[in-house]
Amino acid sequence: MTLDDFHPLFHARTFAIIQPESRADMIAALRSLAGRIDAEWKGAGYEPADLPAIASRVLAESRPDREYDLGALADWTLTTPDLPDACNPFGPLGPPAFTVWSNPHFYVNVYVYTTPEVVVHDHDFSGAFMNLSGVTIHCTYRFEGDAIDETVHAGALELKGIEAISEGRVRAIEAGERFIHQVWHISQPTVVLVVRTPPLTPSPRQFQYLRPSIATQVFRNDSLAVGYPERFAYTRKMAECLRTSSAGIDYVKQLVRGERPWDAVWHLMENSRYLRNAGALEEVIALGAKHQGEWFGAMTNAGADYDVFTSIKWPGVVLARDRIVLASLISFRTWGPIRKSLEALLPGVDARAQVVETLGSLVDAGAIALDLRPEVRPLLADALGDDAAPDPKLDAVRQQPLLLPLFSP
Ligand SMILES: [Fe+2]
Repeated sequence: MTLDDFHPLFHARTFAIIQPESRADMIAALRSLAGRIDAEWKGAGYEPADLPAIASRVLAESRPDREYDLGALADWTLTTPDLPDACNPFGPLGPPAFTVWSNPHFYVNVYVYTTPEVVVHDHDFSGAFMNLSGVTIHCTYRFEGDAIDETVHAGALELKGIEAISEGRVRAIEAGERFIHQVWHISQPTVVLVVRTPPLTPSPRQFQYLRPSIATQVFRNDSLAVGYPERFAYTRKMAECLRTSSAGIDYVKQLVRGERPWDAVWHLMENSRYLRNAGALEEVIALGAKHQGEWFGAMTNAGADYDVFTSIKWPGVVLARDRIVLASLISFRTWGPIRKSLEALLPGVDARAQVVETLGSLVDAGAIALDLRPEVRPLLADALGDDAAPDPKLDAVRQQPLLLPLFSP
């Protein structure tokens, strides 16, 4: 028996054979939920700031997770003659997103995730969400910073809380930087119901946050999917052409030196691997700090967790406990809080042994690319003990980006 079998929080959802007459229940339940929210919110004057509390209360009372049925959603996609006006914030390449009900004031969306989300972000809308099926590790953040211009803020991003959200739990979404989060979807799939307004633009705008200290505005195209400023869309593709040779270094230098702060940040992000391999990353960041301002120096670390995240083959990380270990390794900077969070999220589990077991099994399965040969795994477990001095045989192991937090005091 594995941990995933017996831990109540991470129980596998049973997919019972569903009778045809029950299939309409989830969609009917969501429609009636939408009608109730609409009536109450209309009575309050459709003020965006009132929606989080109203939607949270109605969600908590009506518990649509109890009617969860992916088959009903599948039937609905086949039989609905007129689909509602949709709000899909992920675009055609993102996770499945279905607007099952909408009116000019708000949308009722169902998102089906099979992998966690890499982006720490705030919202340009208000509303609430509930997991209909599966577990999410929910990290919330606070950001203190100053505006470099309208689209870039620089300051400090700090992890505020980490919690496991299981089915039926509701969280309000407040627009703006008072609610910043990252969602690690643990179950495959994790199905989330989101009740939300359209974008409340021009204010507040949505930002995504690059650890440790930079926030950049999220641009969206006409269909609300994530997009780019027009000029950036051209220059990033030009950089892509030039990355086939060392000619790209000079081009990226010009971009980082002369473009607007937002563009400079994202050109650096998109080209950091190329620049690092060419030995030019430090020089380009220094150039950016000289021309954009000192804040640009933080770009040294800004892409690190993206690189680590995208190096993981998430579909191959199946067990809940393995996803939780990886989420903790990427969310925290040091071993102490990683151990604490694992002890809280996986009660009764020895955090040290679990980290080594997770890393070893994922390396063996080819889901993560780490140099962690079987003979050094016991040494890693020893090194995570209290007051242990790491064995010199771990010197190469501890330099790897995913493992750096384990060795940081
Ligand atoms: Fe969000």
